[in-house]
Amino acid sequence: MGNCYPKFEKNIPNTTKTKKNVIIKEEEPKSSQGQIVTPRLKEFTYAELRSATKNFRPATILGEGGFGQVFKGWVDGVTYVPTKPGFGIPVAVKKSDSDSFQGLKEWQAEVEFLGKFSHPNVVKLLGYCWEDKAFLLVYEYMQRGSLENHLFKKGTEPLSWETRIKIATGAAKGLAFMHTTENKVIYRDFKTSNILLDGDFNAKLSDFGLAKLGPINGESHVSTMIVGTYGYAAPEYMITGHLYVKSDVYGFGVVMLEMITGLRVLDPNRPTSQINLVDWARPFLTDIKKLRRIMDPRLEQDYPSKGAIMAGELIIDCLDLNPNQRPSMEQVVLSLDEINSIKMKPRRLKGTPKRLMNPHQKQYPGDNRREKQCPSPIYIKNT
Ligand SMILES: Nc1ncnc2c1ncn2[C@@H]1O[C@H](COP(=O)(O)OP(=O)(O)O)[C@@H](O)[C@H]1O
Ligand SMILES: [Mg+2]
Repeated sequence: MGNCYPKFEKNIPNTTKTKKNVIIKEEEPKSSQGQIVTPRLKEFTYAELRSATKNFRPATILGEGGFGQVFKGWVDGVTYVPTKPGFGIPVAVKKSDSDSFQGLKEWQAEVEFLGKFSHPNVVKLLGYCWEDKAFLLVYEYMQRGSLENHLFKKGTEPLSWETRIKIATGAAKGLAFMHTTENKVIYRDFKTSNILLDGDFNAKLSDFGLAKLGPINGESHVSTMIVGTYGYAAPEYMITGHLYVKSDVYGFGVVMLEMITGLRVLDPNRPTSQINLVDWARPFLTDIKKLRRIMDPRLEQDYPSKGAIMAGELIIDCLDLNPNQRPSMEQVVLSLDEINSIKMKPRRLKGTPKRLMNPHQKQYPGDNRREKQCPSPIYIKNT
């Protein structure tokens, strides 16, 4: 088998071919930062990817999701031929051995969408492989891994307020780009494990397995089988299967709430009334005194009150039960820019020596207040 890409190349919109079957046109600049480009993906052999990852050695595993495991590998920066570790460029190789129909569909969606998106906040797909029952994808390597790990994994450096806002802004820009391409694309699985970070904490969206073309002909939504992740999926979608572009905005609100509280959206280890973070935190979000009580203690109160309350209000807007009342992702980006412009006022604590009052001083003493790592939200991808 090996080469399956041409099978669904015809489904990629805005592709024009010559008689020789060569794609000649696909440039369609839309957003100021991103564009739809001609997919130039390398077709890897299984043997090449096995060699690049040292036979998919467990020590090279970067993460795991619903589709399969992701390994770190090394390839030549120009030819993408496998190299020794430390030579050429690092890549991330996602591998599924399953021949499930859902696995194949997710693999196809990733190749179809990621292959043609070029945006600083969307992870770059370098190539793919499909041999027998194995589907693989090869991406640019994201040095700092997922936002999920930084927020919830034990032993990670706490993220500062500024870094959290930077990450939220990057992820929001990625979503805004998808929502404003000519054929609107709905991401459908926005969550912390699908937001990856480069060495400078720039956020990029990955895992486009559930991405879906948005409504056309003036329709408000598309009707689909319900897939996604509990906690992040918008209520209207969970109940009716009606998927709106604004269903992604709900997921964004959930992630922002996790980012400011440092808590997972669903955690069965919390007291019953607090298991669902959205339900529990909602009344705390618009009053700064209440909000302070649920802000992530790892921030050590090092955030501007005005910025925090604006973030709380933005989250409330994103979590509106009526999708039409939610802001667009472009509006979300503007709000985040405003939040980012609010700087910390120096805190004058009684009796605190002056030299310790620098509000931007980052002191993260060994934080022992973190609870044990919580289980992942219930996964409903395969329903
Ligand atoms: N390009 C990458 N660079 C670094 N780590 C990655 C990369 N892609 C995925 N990962 C890690 O693997 C995890 C699962 O990847 P993901 O694409 O979400 O897989 P799935 O489709 O199985 O959910 C991510 O949460 C992240 O920790
Ligand atoms: Mg994932």
